[in-house]
Amino acid sequence: MKSLITVLVVLVLLGCKSEEKKESLYTAPADTAEGTAAELSPSANLGKEIFDGKGNCFACHKPDQKIIGPSIAEIAKIYKEKNGNIVEFLKGKGEPIVDPSQYEVMKTNFSITKNLSDEELKGLEDYIYNFQAP
Ligand code: HEC
Repeated sequence: MKSLITVLVVLVLLGCKSEEKKESLYTAPADTAEGTAAELSPSANLGKEIFDGKGNCFACHKPDQKIIGPSIAEIAKIYKEKNGNIVEFLKGKGEPIVDPSQYEVMKTNFSITKNLSDEELKGLEDYIYNFQAP
């Protein structure tokens, strides 16, 4: 019994060690003051803040999975393909090109996005375009 415990303790310790290693490997490339966020431009960073914060966009848009709204990856893909304009869309001036059948649901958010500045809207666009699935 005692030796079994010893084996378990060793396994746990080894487990922790390799975990530590993984983590240091993972964080190494982003060796900057801002950490991983440094990969985004200031504008895209602003967009990310709004997307995950006061814009509440994350409630319906997940990175690479459709929930209530299409995934960020899908929006980026279709807007790039069709040369769309996310800023105009969020101002309520564009036509939906990703999932027009669900446009009514997205439209409810224009009450939020209409109060955002051009800089903030451009940030959202930059964030969506530069989004890299984790
Ligand atoms: C209540 C859920 C909900 C929230 C919150 C939400 N969306 Fe959406 N969004 C949707 C749905 C549903 C669609 C699909 C309909 C469509 O394509 O217009 C969509 C579509 C979109 C599209 C593609 C539009 C197109 O051309 O078809 C963009 C861009 C977008 N959302 C951005 C945002 C941003 C930015 C925010 C935050 C300010 C946000 N959404 C918040 C539900 C939501």
